[in-house]
Amino acid sequence: VAKARRLADRQVRSQSRRFLAEGPQAVREALAHPSLVVEVFAAERPSDVVRGLRQAADAAGVAWTEVGEDVIRVVADTVTPQGVVAVCRFLDRPLAEVLGAAPRLLAVGVDVGDPGNAGTLLRCADAAGCDAVVLAGRGVDPYNPKAVRASAGSLFHLPVIVSPDVPGTLAAVRAAGLRLLAADAAAATDLDAVDRQGLLAGPTAWLFGNEAHGLDPELVAVADEAVSVPLYGRAESLNLVAAAAVCLYASARAQSLTAGGAA
Ligand SMILES: C[S@@+](CC[C@H](N)C(=O)[O-])C[C@H]1O[C@@H](n2cnc3c(N)ncnc32)[C@H](O)[C@@H]1O
Repeated sequence: VAKARRLADRQVRSQSRRFLAEGPQAVREALAHPSLVVEVFAAERPSDVVRGLRQAADAAGVAWTEVGEDVIRVVADTVTPQGVVAVCRFLDRPLAEVLGAAPRLLAVGVDVGDPGNAGTLLRCADAAGCDAVVLAGRGVDPYNPKAVRASAGSLFHLPVIVSPDVPGTLAAVRAAGLRLLAADAAAATDLDAVDRQGLLAGPTAWLFGNEAHGLDPELVAVADEAVSVPLYGRAESLNLVAAAAVCLYASARAQSLTAGGAA
């Protein structure tokens, strides 16, 4: 329990390569990949939902430890972890492995600072059918408890790459044949224009910047195109994940229309 509790600390997580998945939804998603789960802590008097998870854990041979509700609260980051927390192994993949599988749509978050945004970016990219999400630079890690929660299970659905070296990441992505599009509210070219030019239909990696500072101008310069989502009202910019939703869905739509047309 003491070891699990320390996983709230990023350094402890990265040294042990373990993190916590809290609550029935996250634990269910984790148990769908039993090799990822080290141990589950659950309340001594489980709800029906948690009892169902116990059956899944037993069937998969995953260790299950019953503890008091107060102990669950100590281990978990949430006030009400709903009686169950799993200790899981890191699941991020090497960039080269993901690029080797000929991805068509990647979301790259650069220096994402807010764990809620990191998790929601994963959820949004999952929903838009991205092949992977890259968290590049010095941002939060996807195993932050708030990020895990905000991903609503998507952390377990699509490959995640953690890549501190931003220029190296972009060079590798481009070498794999993806067009680099930098989402930037100040860009002169807007999303409708690139869509009309047919630039969204091919393999694409979208870059999204930090909540406060946006994308570094040097990264925007490296991209094949800087693209803005038009702002029709008075907002200065969109929230990072709102921008990602618009851009990724535009690409998903263009790619599926092209695939449909070719069939
Ligand atoms: C909250 S915004 C950053 C705002 C920051 N003040 C700036 O100078 O860019 C975070 C990220 O969301 C994306 N974004 C926000 N609004 C956008 C828009 N209208 N068009 C394209 N991308 C946008 C960009 O990738 C941006 O780096």
